[in-house]
Amino acid sequence: MTFSMHPLWILSSCLLLLKSSIANTETCSDCFVNSRATYYSIPGKNGTDSGACGFGPFGAIVNGGDVSAASDLYRNGTGCGACYQVRCLNSNYCSDQGATVVITDQGSGDHTAFILSIHAFSKMAQTKDAAAYLLALGVVNIEYRRVSCSYPNKNITFKIDENSNNPSYLAFAIYYQQGKTDITAVQLCEIQSFTCKLLERSHGAVWAANSPPRGQLSIRMLFSDGDDYGDDTWLVPVNNIPQDWKPGDIYDSGVQVNQ
Ligand SMILES: *[C@@H]1O[C@H](CO)[C@@H](O)[C@H](O)[C@H]1NC(C)=O
Ligand SMILES: *[C@@H]1O[C@H](CO)[C@@H](O)[C@H](O)[C@H]1NC(C)=O
Ligand SMILES: *[C@@H]1O[C@H](CO)[C@@H](O)[C@H](O)[C@H]1NC(C)=O
Repeated sequence: MTFSMHPLWILSSCLLLLKSSIANTETCSDCFVNSRATYYSIPGKNGTDSGACGFGPFGAIVNGGDVSAASDLYRNGTGCGACYQVRCLNSNYCSDQGATVVITDQGSGDHTAFILSIHAFSKMAQTKDAAAYLLALGVVNIEYRRVSCSYPNKNITFKIDENSNNPSYLAFAIYYQQGKTDITAVQLCEIQSFTCKLLERSHGAVWAANSPPRGQLSIRMLFSDGDDYGDDTWLVPVNNIPQDWKPGDIYDSGVQVNQ
C-alpha cells in the first residue's frame, strides 16, 4: 500500500505550523532562553552586600538570599530588582522548578548570564547531593525566563542612600518592586507647590537629585514592560517622604504593583 499525502493537507499543515510559530514569538517573553550560570563564593550562602544595584545589605538577603549578579540582563541598572526563573538542564541532578532569583549585582563569568548566590545555585538541584555535584562543576548550562517578583505583605519601599545629605543631595534605592515590568523613569514631586522633576538613575536601582525640593516629597515611578504599546503608567505613592528625611531612613510607599 502506498501512502501519499494530499497536497491540500500538506499546505494546511504548513499553515498550521506557521501559525503556531507566530504565536510562539508573540508570547516569547515567557519562553526560556539558554545560557550558563556559575556562583560567587563568599562567606555565607547569600548574595553580596555591595552589589552594583546599590541595594546594600538588602541585596544580599532579599528573596531568602536567592539573588544573582547579571551580565547583559543588568541592562545598565534597569535590570536591578528583576526576577528570573533559572533552571539547569541535567535531568539527573536538576529540578524542573529551578530557582527564582532577583538581580542585585552586575557580573559576568565565562559566557554566563548569571552569577548566582550559592543559596540560589543549590536550589536548582533536586537534592542536597545533587547540589554538591553541581557546585563542584562550577558552571552549568541553564535556561531562564523573566518571571514576576513576589513579596507578600510588602509595599514598594524607598531606602535613603547613605551618601545622601539633607538638603543638598537626595539619593534612594527602590526595594520590593513586584511584577515583571521595569521602572524606566522616576519623578520627585514637592507636595505643596506640586513641582516635579525627573531624576537621573545614579546607578543600579538608585535614583538621585542634586538640590531636591524642600518640603514633603512624593516619589513617582514609571513602569514599562518594554513594548511600544504606550501602556506605561505612573505609580503615585500613598505615603510621602517627610521634609526631614535622613540617610539610611526607610519609607514605605503604601503602594505595590503586580504586573
Ligand atoms: C541569608 O539570608 C537569610 C534571609 O534571607 C538570613 O536569615 C540569613 O541569616 C542570611 N545568612 C547570612 C550568612 O547572612
Ligand atoms: C548602557 O549605557 C550605554 C551608555 O550610556 C549605552 O550606550 C548602552 O546602549 C546602554 N545599554 C543598555 C543595555 O541599555
Ligand atoms: C502597604 O500599604 C497599605 C496602604 O497603602 C498599608 O495599609 C499596608 O499596611 C502596607 N503594608 C505594609 C506591609 O506596610
